[in-house]
Amino acid sequence: MSSSTKLQHIAFIMDGNGRWAKSKGLKRIKGHEEGAKTIRSITEYCAKHPTIKSTTFFAFSTENWKRPKYEVEFLMQLLQKHLKNELATLQKNGVRFKAIGDLSAFSSSVRKIIEHTEQETADNKRLTQLLALNYGGRLEIVQAINRLLKQEPKEITRQMISNELETPYSELDLLVRTSGEMRISNFLLWQAAYAELSFTDTYWPDFSTHELEQIIEDFMCRERRFGGVGS
Ligand code: FPP
Repeated sequence: MSSSTKLQHIAFIMDGNGRWAKSKGLKRIKGHEEGAKTIRSITEYCAKHPTIKSTTFFAFSTENWKRPKYEVEFLMQLLQKHLKNELATLQKNGVRFKAIGDLSAFSSSVRKIIEHTEQETADNKRLTQLLALNYGGRLEIVQAINRLLKQEPKEITRQMISNELETPYSELDLLVRTSGEMRISNFLLWQAAYAELSFTDTYWPDFSTHELEQIIEDFMCRERRFGGVGS
């Protein structure tokens, strides 16, 4: 393994919950419920991994408000339930929780449980779990630039934007998308500039630590050249 294949930041576009449910004759929301369980098993795995320091899960995009009202409401309730249930697992595994995205759109009860989980896990050091909520990559970059403009800089550099992003690692090493779709969908646009991409047909509720292990093995064999010519 060369240092360029060191896996520190891994992210997941958790797609296929609805199709998983449909394939089993269940309501779409059941797929989200099962999908939330996958977040737990993948987080536990990543917390034990020797080099992974940060995981980012795309839970709700700036475009997801367009879904039927009952589904959006269900996702909000599920988010609250999920965070309450997960606190013990996060603590046990040394995982610091942080939400990224524009949280101002959420109800005060959702924001309260997010803040509570962030505060309770703030000192955990093994892994940071980022949950992207009302998140969009373009919006994140625009907000970073607007914060910088308030300081009236002479110019804005790449480093300045990197430092303003919401993710602790401004580089993403590996992006995994489930369910056979091959798009980035406005997720971690800046961070993914040199990320390795991995697409699997598996629906998110069926995505297992075993499959993740195989994806990581494949990642380790890739030569990341970052625009250079390699060795
Ligand atoms: C994509 O599946 C999934 C989402 C838009 C939401 C991701 C949510 C979870 C994994 C559940 C946990 C949620 C929280 C809030 C902690 P889809 O519904 O687009 O599936 P489809 O493409 O098969 O319809």
